[in-house]
Amino acid sequence: MKNFIFAFILFALLLTVNAAPFQLNKRAITFSACPTAGDHPFDLLTVHIGGPDPPEPGKPESFNVSGKMTKYNIKKNKSILVIGYGDLNGQLLHDAYIQTFTESISKGRQFTELASDVPTPPDLPSTYTLAVAIGDPVDDPDAPVDTYGCALATVGGKSKNLIFIN
Ligand SMILES: *[C@@H]1O[C@H](CO)[C@@H](O)[C@H](O)[C@H]1NC(C)=O
Ligand SMILES: *[C@@H]1O[C@H](CO)[C@@H](O)[C@H](O)[C@H]1NC(C)=O
Repeated sequence: MKNFIFAFILFALLLTVNAAPFQLNKRAITFSACPTAGDHPFDLLTVHIGGPDPPEPGKPESFNVSGKMTKYNIKKNKSILVIGYGDLNGQLLHDAYIQTFTESISKGRQFTELASDVPTPPDLPSTYTLAVAIGDPVDDPDAPVDTYGCALATVGGKSKNLIFIN
């Protein structure tokens, strides 16, 4: 599972750093849409951070994730909420947090999923990316999570300093 998620987040981050608006001010993280390649746009998740905002190194954080899936049924005991912190090289800062849904939610229905105790990496760099996604794990190393909902925030830093390999 760890490798699945790693590959997924890596992919998400590489897309992100090119496109996400950077927030120069570290106060109050704002999440925005995940860029997508091709014809598979993600539904935008609404993410509210309940603890320290921005997160503080090593202190658990709570994430209130809400939204509406337009083309996808969230499946009880199968679909997952993934929260990952990454650096700007696309490396996860620690294991992604994974929470399995305990309720099925049909497409078109508004939902709220609370992850109340998500570990924050003990060493948070001055600039990092926070990825929140909903999808189903699938047995495919090239596309390890079938992702339907997503939100991303890049905290700190300046985009002109960043160069990314594709
Ligand atoms: C989570 O967010 C939803 C939608 O914004 C809100 O209705 C709900 O009260 C929030 N729950 C918590 C525990 O903050
Ligand atoms: C989901 O998991 C719970 C706890 O492991 C179990 O009690 C329940 O029967 C499962 N439900 C389904 C639909 O698989």
